[in-house]
Amino acid sequence: MTPPKTGTLMNSETSAETRRDTLTITDNRTGKQYEVPIKNDTIRPIDLRKIKVNDADFGMMTYDPSFSNTASCASKITYIDGDQGILRYRGYSIEELAEKSTYLETAYLILYGELPTQSQLADWSYHITHHTFVHESIKKFLDGFHYDAHPMGMLISTVAALSTFYPESKDIFNAESRRKQTYRLIGKMPTLAAFSYRHSLGMPLVYPDNDLSYTGNFLNMLFRTTELKYKPNPTLERTLDILFILHADHEQNCSSTAMRGVGSSHADPYCATAAATAALYGPLHGGANEQVLRMLLEIGSVNNVPAYVKQVKAGEKLLMGFGHRIYKNYDPRAKIVKRMAYEVFETVGRNPLIDIALECERIALEDEYFVKRKLYPNVDFYTGLIYQSMGFPVTMFPVLFAIPRTSGWIAQWEEMLLDSEQKIARPRQVYTGYDLRSYTPMDARK
Ligand code: CMC
Repeated sequence: MTPPKTGTLMNSETSAETRRDTLTITDNRTGKQYEVPIKNDTIRPIDLRKIKVNDADFGMMTYDPSFSNTASCASKITYIDGDQGILRYRGYSIEELAEKSTYLETAYLILYGELPTQSQLADWSYHITHHTFVHESIKKFLDGFHYDAHPMGMLISTVAALSTFYPESKDIFNAESRRKQTYRLIGKMPTLAAFSYRHSLGMPLVYPDNDLSYTGNFLNMLFRTTELKYKPNPTLERTLDILFILHADHEQNCSSTAMRGVGSSHADPYCATAAATAALYGPLHGGANEQVLRMLLEIGSVNNVPAYVKQVKAGEKLLMGFGHRIYKNYDPRAKIVKRMAYEVFETVGRNPLIDIALECERIALEDEYFVKRKLYPNVDFYTGLIYQSMGFPVTMFPVLFAIPRTSGWIAQWEEMLLDSEQKIARPRQVYTGYDLRSYTPMDARK
């Protein structure tokens, strides 16, 4: 949500005396006028309930499928200006954080609102690092999955299962308990993800190494084979860390909304995180990075790009990694990722799919179909190329999104819990089905 601005310019016909922060609505069905308050450039749909045709009328509601123009909460966490292509966590620009911060520091910022002091960061990192191990029984669940099970399916299931190991996590209004579950979730997500990956390869699981950084340890759990001590490649370790910073939060997207929605019923944070991870899995959300790579492979060569774009324009396909509900400009994360791709290629070799991606982008940015709809590359367009070059299979791409997004989900969840205006999520509907009808006996049905 772009925070609405207050005190916008008055038009020339509005004098300071006549200006009121209200909206006057005329109901042309009755000729009656209503005045509703405006705060932060928004009105409250509940104020419309007084608009009625007669006393028996339920009153006016708003209809907003997919919440295109409805703010479901007030939030202090993440600011996006979709027209300008701006993204900030707690007021800090994504560009500056990507350059100067680390994922764990950024996660702390997102969760607690301020950059940590030296000792706060040391304490935070210590606790995350010391919550990376998972109960041995988790390995038994993993064993039950098929060798080719999608790692997102395994991740969703094992995160939900954590709820059964930590029943005290249901004490959601206890700040100490919330903090403990936060350490556990952020600490254990990489372990669950890496275990899922190793299971799919049929390789022995690698336990966390507390001497390594958050991303260094993750690489260790994924890729260690016979070495006594795994040494992550510093370029790849830092690249992953920056990608984690870029994915840490993105305000009220589909998965944050799932986190808040499930959390609003006072479910424990593991169940809510499993729901958010499931929402992220979809190809229109965090699953898009996997689909981008599949699309580039399907296109196969630069020469085939025009034919593919033609199919997209005919409505037969989507150009995966393009478009965004909020960004109507280049996604600022995509700009950083595109630059990083070249740095990674210097270490691991050029990924030939980059040429197909660049040609898709070149054609799309010039083509009227995309220009008119303001469709630009989003964060998922170039990440897959980096992940593939780092040796990840495509099925792991959405998992690489879910791990860092966990900090954002928890921050959104906690903000929702502590917001006195929030209640259980329960939208209204416009019923368009049958009116009352009588039960039809079986022999009378057609
Ligand atoms: N390729 C072709 N046409 C598109 C695309 C695309 N990727 N995205 C949107 N459009 C068209 C869409 O068909 C519609 O055209 P028309 O006005 O003729 O009906 C118009 O652009 C507006 O699109 P929309 O579907 O109303 O936009 P939305 O805000 O509902 O959807 C979106 C946003 C991200 C789901 C969509 O752009 C999309 O499906 N993109 C591909 C999937 C993708 O890359 N998702 C990752 C999003 S960024 C990471 C994250 O935060 O999850």
